[in-house]
Amino acid sequence: MNTSALKELESFSEASTEEMAAEFAKDILPGTVVALYGDLGAGKTVFARGFARGLGITETVSSPTFTLMQEYKVAGKPRLRWFYHLDLYRIEDSKAALVFGVDEYLSGPDSVLLIEWAERIEDILPPGTMRVEISHAGGDKRKIKFTKIAG
Ligand SMILES: Nc1ncnc2c1ncn2[C@@H]1O[C@H](COP(=O)(O)OP(=O)(O)O)[C@@H](O)[C@H]1O
Ligand SMILES: [Mg+2]
Repeated sequence: MNTSALKELESFSEASTEEMAAEFAKDILPGTVVALYGDLGAGKTVFARGFARGLGITETVSSPTFTLMQEYKVAGKPRLRWFYHLDLYRIEDSKAALVFGVDEYLSGPDSVLLIEWAERIEDILPPGTMRVEISHAGGDKRKIKFTKIAG
């Protein structure tokens, strides 16, 4: 896949990953898809929580592993009305995700969609998707790499 590298950060704590995600969220435009990659326990949900905080969401954000999708109303951001948090851990592939109606969320002009286990639907991620790869780097250290799918 054609991607361009944006930046790579190191985090040494859960709080710092949340802070990095909150900063990242501040520059996100309505209509953006954020695809999170990383093993179980890497910090995808921690990142999602910080990201939501950066969008001004004050509700508790936990992983929608069982409900698949959690939606939050965004207030005070021009043209951005919804934050969708999707967890595809239980979804096998893009075919299954399309049955579930994922395409509607992938193309919302007034929403931002953040996806955990994005590799499951890699083949239908739109151009311009921001990829965030979180990897364990010993203890509480994590590497967080940001790239963008060309287009
Ligand atoms: N630097 C760090 N960044 C994020 N999480 C961290 C970090 N160091 C330790 N942790 C811990 O790792 C776990 C990450 O969990 P979670 O975000 O649910 O992972 P995932 O959603 O990727 O499965 C949490 O228990 C968190 O406290
Ligand atoms: Mg998670």
